Amino acid sequence: METATRVALSRNVAETEQIGERIGALLRGGELLCLSGDLGAGKTALTRGIGRGWGALEPITSPTFTLIHEHHRARDGQKLYHVDGYRLSGAADAWTVGLDELLHGEDVVVIEWPENVAEALPEERLWVTLDFFDDETRQLTFNASGAQALALLRALD
Ligand SMILES: Nc1ncnc2c1ncn2[C@@H]1O[C@H](COP(=O)(O)OP(=O)(O)O)[C@@H](O)[C@H]1O
Ligand SMILES: [Mg+2]
Repeated sequence: METATRVALSRNVAETEQIGERIGALLRGGELLCLSGDLGAGKTALTRGIGRGWGALEPITSPTFTLIHEHHRARDGQKLYHVDGYRLSGAADAWTVGLDELLHGEDVVVIEWPENVAEALPEERLWVTLDFFDDETRQLTFNASGAQALALLRALD
C-alpha cells in the first residue's frame, strides 16, 4: 500500500486547532484518523479543530467518560465519531464497543489512543503522532496509508 509522511510543528494550542480545522474541511467521509500521543500532547485539541472544520454542530470535548461521541453537522447526514481508546485493549474490546461497524461506513472516525486497538484498525488511515517539544511546542507526524489518506495529506501541503 502506498504511504506518505509529513511533519509539522505547532507552537501553541491554537495552531494545533488550526491544523485540525484544515484537515476537517478536507474530509469527504469514510476517513479514519488515528491520533497517537501521550496525555496532554494535543489529541483532543486537534480533534476540536477537526470538528470545527468538518462542521460539527456541537463543540468537541474529551470523550473519556463515554468512549465514543457521535457528532452531526447541518449540511448532510454524515457523522463524525470521536473515539477514546484509552480504556480499550485489543480487538475484542473494539468489537464490544462497536468500533468495527463505525470503521466500515461512510462516516468519519477520529480515535485517540489508537495503539490500544491497533489490531482492529484498517490499514488505510491517516495516523498522526503528536510529540512534546516543550511546554507549548508539539511535533505532528502524519503517516498516510491508502489513496484517500494520501490525497488528504497532499491537500494539506
Ligand atoms: N502546541 C500545542 N498543541 C496542543 N495543545 C497544546 C499545545 N501547547 C500547549 N497545549 C496544551 O496541552 C494540552 C493538550 O490537551 P489535550 O488536547 O486534551 O491532549 P490529549 O487529548 O492528547 O490528552 C492543553 O492543555 C493545551 O492547552
Ligand atoms: Mg484527549
